[in-house]
Amino acid sequence: MCGIVGYVGNEACQEIILGSLERLEYRGYDSSGIATIEHDQLQLCRAVGKLSELKVKIKEKPVSGYMGIGHIRWATHGGVTLENAHPHLANSEVAIVHNGIIENYAELKKDLIEKGCVFISDTDSEVLAHLFVHAFREGCVPVEALRFVLSKIEGAFAFAAISKSNPETLMVARNASPLAIGFADEMAIVASDATAMAHLTRQVTYLKDNDYAVVTAKSCDIFNGNNEPANREIVQVKASPILLDKAGFRHYMEKEIHEQPDAISHTISAMSDVGGNLTAGIDIPSLSKIKRIVLLAAGTSFYAAQIGRYWIEKLSGIPVVCEIASEYHYRDPAATGQTTAIVISQSGESIDTLMAMRHAKNLGLDTFGIVNVADSTIAREADKILPTRAGPEIGVASTKAFTAQLVVLICLAIVLGKQNGHLDESRVTYLYQKLLKIPGAVGKTMKLFDPIRPIAHQLKNARSCLFLGRDMLFPLACEGALKLKELSYIHAEGFASGEMKHGPIALLEDGLPIVSFVSEGKMALKAISNLKEAEARGGYIIVIGTQVAVDLIDFAAAKIVIPDCEPIFAPIVGAIPVQILAYLTALEKGTDIDQPRNLAKSVTVE
Ligand code: G6P
Repeated sequence: MCGIVGYVGNEACQEIILGSLERLEYRGYDSSGIATIEHDQLQLCRAVGKLSELKVKIKEKPVSGYMGIGHIRWATHGGVTLENAHPHLANSEVAIVHNGIIENYAELKKDLIEKGCVFISDTDSEVLAHLFVHAFREGCVPVEALRFVLSKIEGAFAFAAISKSNPETLMVARNASPLAIGFADEMAIVASDATAMAHLTRQVTYLKDNDYAVVTAKSCDIFNGNNEPANREIVQVKASPILLDKAGFRHYMEKEIHEQPDAISHTISAMSDVGGNLTAGIDIPSLSKIKRIVLLAAGTSFYAAQIGRYWIEKLSGIPVVCEIASEYHYRDPAATGQTTAIVISQSGESIDTLMAMRHAKNLGLDTFGIVNVADSTIAREADKILPTRAGPEIGVASTKAFTAQLVVLICLAIVLGKQNGHLDESRVTYLYQKLLKIPGAVGKTMKLFDPIRPIAHQLKNARSCLFLGRDMLFPLACEGALKLKELSYIHAEGFASGEMKHGPIALLEDGLPIVSFVSEGKMALKAISNLKEAEARGGYIIVIGTQVAVDLIDFAAAKIVIPDCEPIFAPIVGAIPVQILAYLTALEKGTDIDQPRNLAKSVTVE
């Protein structure tokens, strides 16, 4: 992960780089730093902790100059210390910022130490700075220095380097980690994403894997992995120049929970044509090509995939498998014929998901992407995009992007079922009409903050918590457990209700909280007996369901009532109370809700 930025132009760069780092804060918050060049001298300011720490430090000791680089870190190699914070300097000659992992750093470092280099940090990244110094001492010009460094390193990276011997030139390169270059009059900016430069320009070029570039305020020479000049298109991006605020909410997460009715209705619109018919944005020939599906994703997006599998198989009869992206990437799946790979990613940048998509492409599969960030790498590389219209999601724990992903998946399931005749026209119309009511139902769940507050108060002292669900509510139970552990650091696991008796029941002890989704209909009686078994062993039972469903569980210690909705849409409406429960429990515990420890919004390392 980590975010990088570099600027060269005719304005003092400190505030510009800080502005970009603010927009990249979702990528990490272990430490941050800026290096600039003025009067042939490198200046450096770094701080451990969030960007606010750097801002305090830099106020006391500003850096100056018209060219500089900046970094926001999510630690991979080396602990969270000042020495390991980027930028890394070598011999006060070169400064670098890096996102990714230099896989062969250990042997490079050994070699460089033998040549007399002194290393300050425990990071893999520092080798880059020493390699540049070596190249310049050999008399290289910037492009030659870049070629030299790239010939030595292996791994995933996006980096930017500055050297006091070339005080007007940024040297940048990428492989697997994202890097964009933005242009405006008399300036250029490089960054991990286009949003980080949206306060300066919308004219952006995305480097491709193995590209490298020499960038000045007036020129940009890009080369591909074969050292040939490469023409990369300049595109106009839509990223908002305005930094998002919390709109009066205490946390981005709280705000984003409340934005779900809008996110869902915008996404339903994106899935419909101008005549109000559900199309999922896919033409009929492409739809009829889909005979089997593999859904690939990580984290919360993976639980959306698992719910999607229930829907697609139920409504269209098309076989679906779900795979964790980091596993699929290195697997040799046996049957791939006529399979479409659908990758799901809020950021469109998770390296595991991107690599899984590329693996699927190499296997000859068509690739569809369900992504929230329109100009992300996955959005650019997928054959087709099914956009979620959740808007920027800043809180690390995904909320509105998750429910928007669910909306895309249910729309796809309905459209596939209509296309292959599994659903008749009247059923399609019925489901669509019911789907249009979901934003309203989700709006009503915002009233659940107050009733959930005492439950969260109770939960905050728990050491562990189980989440249960059946059928399409089973993956939602797993998502509920993930949310609780991400935000409140309470150990939590999700299980299929029927699986309790095959092992997890051994965990039951007096007072263990068990959050269970309950539904109406034929599954209700089974859920009652599973929960009775848990209650008999001291479990503290919290049930979530419609009024009719929760009324069946008269022995529950706490009940969370969700608005009525068509049962097939219950995972969308049921997602909100578990988000609220995790949010309020974290609030009780005083944890860092928008930036939980050790996590980052977009994970661009394997
Ligand atoms: C990180 C985040 C998770 C997120 C996962 C997948 O691990 O901390 O909250 O679900 O990445 O992210 P994506 O952007 O690919 O959906």
